[in-house]
Amino acid sequence: MQTVGTSQGTASDRFRDLIRSLTGINLPPGKVPMIEQRLRRRVLAHELPDTEAYLRKLLEGALKEDELRIVIDLITTNTTSFFRESDHFTYLRDHILPEHLTKSAPNRARLKVWSAASSEGAEAFTIAMVLAEAQRSGRAFDWAVLGTDISIRILEKAQSAVYDVDQLQTVPSDLARRYFLYSDDPALARKARVIPDLRRRVQFRRLNLMDKTYPVDRDVNVIFLRNVLIYFDANDKAGVIKRMHEHLSPGGYLIVGHAESMVVRCEGLVQIRPTIFRRVN
Ligand SMILES: C[S@@+](CC[C@H](N)C(=O)[O-])C[C@H]1O[C@@H](n2cnc3c(N)ncnc32)[C@H](O)[C@@H]1O
Repeated sequence: MQTVGTSQGTASDRFRDLIRSLTGINLPPGKVPMIEQRLRRRVLAHELPDTEAYLRKLLEGALKEDELRIVIDLITTNTTSFFRESDHFTYLRDHILPEHLTKSAPNRARLKVWSAASSEGAEAFTIAMVLAEAQRSGRAFDWAVLGTDISIRILEKAQSAVYDVDQLQTVPSDLARRYFLYSDDPALARKARVIPDLRRRVQFRRLNLMDKTYPVDRDVNVIFLRNVLIYFDANDKAGVIKRMHEHLSPGGYLIVGHAESMVVRCEGLVQIRPTIFRRVN
């Protein structure tokens, strides 16, 4: 990208600052080729000569208001998969859930789980499958899963709950049969949709982790906050973790990605496994 200097830095510098302030996502200078690649379609859509010209227009506010939302959708990295870092789901099934059921009054148990950077929903629906399986095995409890993300495009995908069958490779085959519907329609070949029973209990909505408050219940039993802190700087990470702590029920669990365990430092949270933390006060 050719750089155009201004009193406040190049358009690319100012763009990277803007993305950081809006989303927390750090884009070091080495990410400029990635930015160019991801925004190429927008440059063409606006018939502009290059990324630099596009960014200048974006920063001047000369493009439609919606453009920034589209850019955020394109800049976020949404990599995810069903049963990713699967030991977390084993821990949910074998430790968190049985303990919660033991503590709850008979027939009153309800588990609230939040997938706090849900991407296209594979994490939220994995949690849902694990909890539905526990119910099938005879455990009586109610449950709900909330999935949130900053990207509207990816949330639309999550809400549709439609996945390529190739994405189900990491789902055990009995669960793939039980919790997904497959269509005979050739237009939907190689697509699968989560069954209505799970979709009813999994809600998705937009939430920016950089916001100072989150419109989410404050008695969440388990928060999955995985593979998103890696994009934030130390201050933003600390702010997000502090706010997450406030949304956990006493004794609630915060689960982070395997690359992120070292970043969780919060007075009210104790580390009980490398990537699993618990609210103690
Ligand atoms: C790599 S995915 C992780 C998905 C899932 N948690 C997992 O581990 O498979 C990171 C997600 O974080 C979201 N994200 C990035 N910045 C965010 C922010 N400020 N607020 C909410 N979500 C954000 C991205 O849109 C993306 O979907």
